[in-house]
Amino acid sequence: MNPRLPDVLPAHIAVIMDGNGRWAERRGLPRTAGHAAGSETFRTIATFCRDIGIQYLTVYAFSSENRKSRPPEEVDAVYDLLRRYIKESLETMERDRVKLKFLGDIKALPADIQNLINKAEALSSKYEGCQCNICVNYGGRDEIVRATRDLIRLSTFEEMKAIVEDDFQRHLDTAFLPDPDLCIRTGDETRLSNFLLWQLAYAELFFTKTLWPDFSVKELAAILRGFSKRIRRYGGL
Ligand code: IPE
Ligand code: IPE
Ligand code: MG
Repeated sequence: MNPRLPDVLPAHIAVIMDGNGRWAERRGLPRTAGHAAGSETFRTIATFCRDIGIQYLTVYAFSSENRKSRPPEEVDAVYDLLRRYIKESLETMERDRVKLKFLGDIKALPADIQNLINKAEALSSKYEGCQCNICVNYGGRDEIVRATRDLIRLSTFEEMKAIVEDDFQRHLDTAFLPDPDLCIRTGDETRLSNFLLWQLAYAELFFTKTLWPDFSVKELAAILRGFSKRIRRYGGL
């Protein structure tokens, strides 16, 4: 049975997919088994979002801090899952018709993953309807610093003195994307952990105790119903 959906849906959903490690540990499994299960959940949720007409889905898969601070074996296991995910997506692309984009400091990833990313982005660029942005080696502060460097490199001194928010936005990884309307964090933590610091300025935030591998279409539908009841004021009345 299809879950009940509200009339008004967000155009852009952001998700902090947290809790994979604890999901595995509670089952006596290695943490990497949690990441593998989480990757399945992501496919299910992304397909559902496409089916119900969500225009943009942006997920936090792996942070720049994760890359620096997790044991090398866990980083390698996440990279392997990413390779597998992209290869599978390349095979099912024509059926899924989802536009894939990868946000973050992609240049610091292993060369073969960068090649897979380039291929997946190029081949899926023709699809319209649903765009899925996967943040890997992503950090909000790092993104702001990279954008600032770009802006300085590409602007004259006079242009820099006249910078407005839109100029800055165009140098972020999310250039030309609308800001997320809704941000969901699973895994029982109520923080942003350096996710989309600029873009979430007016997003509606939802936190759930559910660990990411257990997150379901049913729970997403309930959050969407909650979202439709929120009143967004953007500083107005
Ligand atoms: C989130 O799950 C996914 C990644 C950071 C790769 P965690 O690995 O942070 O899982 P927990 O928070 O330890 O349960
Ligand atoms: C945030 O989760 C990053 C991702 C979900 C990819 P973390 O598990 O890294 O966040 P902290 O360390 O608990 O803040
Ligand atoms: Mg975590």
